[in-house]
Amino acid sequence: MAAMSFQNLIHLKDFERGQVDDLMEAAFAMKRGSVDLPLFFGKKPILATFFLENSTRTKLSFAVAAKRLGAEVLDFPVSTSSLSKGESLEASFLCLEAFGVDGIVFRGSESVLTEISAKIKTPIVSGGEGNSGHPTQALLDYMSFLEDFESLKGRRLLIAGDLKHSRVFASHRELAKLMDVDLVYSGPDHFLPAEGFGSRMDFDEAIASSDMIMLLRVQKERHESDGALMDYNQKFGLNSERLQRLKASAKIYHPGPYNLGVEITEEVLKDQRCRIWDQVENGVYLRMAVLKNILGDKKQ
Ligand code: CP
Repeated sequence: MAAMSFQNLIHLKDFERGQVDDLMEAAFAMKRGSVDLPLFFGKKPILATFFLENSTRTKLSFAVAAKRLGAEVLDFPVSTSSLSKGESLEASFLCLEAFGVDGIVFRGSESVLTEISAKIKTPIVSGGEGNSGHPTQALLDYMSFLEDFESLKGRRLLIAGDLKHSRVFASHRELAKLMDVDLVYSGPDHFLPAEGFGSRMDFDEAIASSDMIMLLRVQKERHESDGALMDYNQKFGLNSERLQRLKASAKIYHPGPYNLGVEITEEVLKDQRCRIWDQVENGVYLRMAVLKNILGDKKQ
């Protein structure tokens, strides 16, 4: 079995370095155009997207990735489905399996994925769950890091912002261990994460010494007043003044969606070190690599 093979992609904590390396190689091959597409003719596999929370990047890039491979996409219509009549999530997944879909991308509560994946045979990929993980976001971020830096070993990755509520940070913690990255984080006391991989650093020291600077969205829905957000920008936002202190070789990332004037400003978006839209682009190629693995890569 190839190192990359996996049945489900729910967490990165069980992943091995070889699987990440193989996924990166497959994603870069997609980006170079060196994979003969479409992969599927005749009976095309069907990918179901099942999102209980709103999404632009994850849901649509999985859909674009599936279509580029030659697969069909079926979007589970949450608001008009029988979920609104009280049908359970488990029964909804069982319906998708009975329809014969070939893979499911799910964004929902953190316990559901693990429970359901033990009950159905259809491969499931997390589209980001609660605050416990967003594996394909962390993987596409690594793809972007690898485009910018020849080797990541010992490179400093700063992740700053709403760490406690961030599924992206949770997956980066799992991945940074595998990739030998020096993970540091910064944020207000009330955003601090539980103990785990990485060490806390003063934001201004960290931006001056980091190679990769990942800003996280302040999750406005969890905060009561705009005053707290203005205060946030002064203390932890990247702005024109702080941009002067970054290394010339540093790169700036954000998983999106971003809050302009809070964790990031217009000047940052215009800075040539900002890689936000490259991350979005790489998301399609990384997800093509993931779907190639779970949907199969034999021409049919
Ligand atoms: N980064 C991310 O998960 O964005 P969406 O919520 O738009 O999918």
